[in-house]
Amino acid sequence: MRQIYRRMITSIHRDEEHRLNRRAFLHTLFVFSVTAGLAGLPLGALARWAERSGPKRSPRSPGTPIARVADVPEGQAFNFEFPGLGHPAVLLHLKGGRFVAYDRRCTHLLCPVLWDADSGKLKCPCHHGFFDAATGNVLAGPSRRPLPEVPVVVSNGVVYAVGGEKRGVRSDAR
Ligand code: FES
Repeated sequence: MRQIYRRMITSIHRDEEHRLNRRAFLHTLFVFSVTAGLAGLPLGALARWAERSGPKRSPRSPGTPIARVADVPEGQAFNFEFPGLGHPAVLLHLKGGRFVAYDRRCTHLLCPVLWDADSGKLKCPCHHGFFDAATGNVLAGPSRRPLPEVPVVVSNGVVYAVGGEKRGVRSDAR
């Protein structure tokens, strides 16, 4: 009888402990939620105030700057690295004012092409390949595919490379 009584008492205490633990847990959770909510309120208001009253952000750059327009006269070229990839590329200022840019790696066997101002073409010295300056298309030589174009835009006297290459770079070599 005594053992039965002890078991009942122990069981009652355990139930009470569980209830207390659950209550303590819910209480802690409630206090934490309220504290976190109150703490976040002034920070959000502060961020909105800073956004409204802070210095105005300058308009986003249209891309990666390559060269100033003034530094590449009409009919001239400017070699640069393809933004982000480090590939050799060339910016051409065509007669008539248009700017175009290409990956300089020849699509035959990846020799770097050169600007030939006399002929107005891009020339590959390795196997006498020639590419059209306005389109990048093959004019002569063993290459079968045009030079990959690097899209550019001119803004406020600066030429920017925008996005990635229009066409992937791949050599004809197998
Ligand atoms: S690598 Fe350019 S023509 Fe061969």
